[in-house]
Amino acid sequence: MKRSKIDDLLKSPEFGKPVCVKGWVRTRRGNKQVAFIALNDGSTIHSIQVVVDLPQFDEEYLKGITTGACICVNGMLVESLGQGQSAEIQAKEIEIYGKADPATYPLQKKGHSLEFLREIAYLRPRTNTFGAVFRLRHHLAYAIHDYFNKQGFYYFHTPIITASDAEGAGSMFRATILDPENAPKTPEGKVDYSQDFFGRHTNLTVSGQLEGELGAMALGGIYTFGPTFRAENSNTPRHLAEFWMIEPEAAFLDINDNMDLAEDFLKYVISYAMEHGKDDIEFLNSMYDNELIERLNFVLNNKFIRLTYTEGVEILEKSGRKFEFPVHWGVDLQSEHERYLVEEHFRCPVIMTDYPKDIKSFYMKQNDDGKTVRGMDVLFPKIGEIIGGSERESDYDKLMNRVKELNMSLDGLWWYLDTRKFGTAPHAGFGLGFERLMLFITGMSNIRDVIPFPRTSKNADF
Ligand code: 4AD
Ligand code: MG
Repeated sequence: MKRSKIDDLLKSPEFGKPVCVKGWVRTRRGNKQVAFIALNDGSTIHSIQVVVDLPQFDEEYLKGITTGACICVNGMLVESLGQGQSAEIQAKEIEIYGKADPATYPLQKKGHSLEFLREIAYLRPRTNTFGAVFRLRHHLAYAIHDYFNKQGFYYFHTPIITASDAEGAGSMFRATILDPENAPKTPEGKVDYSQDFFGRHTNLTVSGQLEGELGAMALGGIYTFGPTFRAENSNTPRHLAEFWMIEPEAAFLDINDNMDLAEDFLKYVISYAMEHGKDDIEFLNSMYDNELIERLNFVLNNKFIRLTYTEGVEILEKSGRKFEFPVHWGVDLQSEHERYLVEEHFRCPVIMTDYPKDIKSFYMKQNDDGKTVRGMDVLFPKIGEIIGGSERESDYDKLMNRVKELNMSLDGLWWYLDTRKFGTAPHAGFGLGFERLMLFITGMSNIRDVIPFPRTSKNADF
């Protein structure tokens, strides 16, 4: 008999029909006469109750049905008299696909801490919490493609291995096949990367933007959605060494169009996830963060505040608040500053623009004041920076001057600079950290809990 998904059975139950379900046992309770099994197959946060009239079955065989076991049940779908569930299954036949020894299976009934579940990340998708989180991750990813497809942006694949450092941050992972113990050396005694796989020094990308810009200069509008890597040692609840980034880039957009795009995009994907992941969000709201739904609705229903860095710093200085990192014009804002503006001052998402050029990347469009650039960060409640972007410097001479000022190597950048020589155009784009968005949607407070297998310093298990 064809297997039904539990989600379908619970949503539109046809009572009195024979059904087949397959899934993992969450709990088993009951007495000598009857057993109640909560079965979950991942299609929904909800488990279905399987009722087993024990005298009709082989007692010894059924002992294998314990928490974590995988079973196949054939039975009759009937209306449930129990509270909080619409349908249950009266079991006729049960096959055990895989047992889970109660003595060693780590996920017994009791609630586990998120810290403990991180240590068993290979099993945590089987919990209600992580089932909800990873279904939402899927809905969001789908919504992102859906949004850009509808807007006429093309999905553009940028390389993972690269010889350029897009952000100039210097926190890149080396990609090499040379043996570190026995690397070939140049006459000056340095590692000779000309003998490496690519014949040069290469890294894992920190951003697909530079190549994305090349796409935008031909296709009009593109977006990337791929993994990016940063060897940041910052051990915070908001940083991963491997994270997913979405980077739209479009010709003929200025900074204001870019802000409109970012706001419209975020609102679309949040409302999509709220519609398609309703049960999961309700679960997370009740379990972890009972202001989650309110916060999501708030972001959907309010226009983001737009202000310049200079205005933001003035507000922070006048706030009278003692910050861990003192604030004055020129400093890079910390998450405590961003969160003060968003959560306490405006109580609304903020798009901050026109940052001092020295704290932003070389490619941002320079303002006439000679001091600031047309960068923009979108700041969200509980998260701080969720998006970073800018209008790009499209003037060859200005860009070249900045590259020289910063002593950047032209070796990995000549092709990027060439775009400003051949048919340059005003253009803009931004990068959204997918896991930061996931934090916002799920209400989880640690970024390690919104990606299946987190990569952070000193941790690459699974
Ligand atoms: O602000 P960032 O560094 O901007 C860029 O990489 C640009 N090239 C984007 C562009 O204009 N196309 O990073 C963009 C976003 C941040 O706002 C943040 O959400 C996320 O990426 N991010 C991280 N997320 C998790 N872990 C990290 N270590 C992150 N670093 C940045
Ligand atoms: Mg940034």
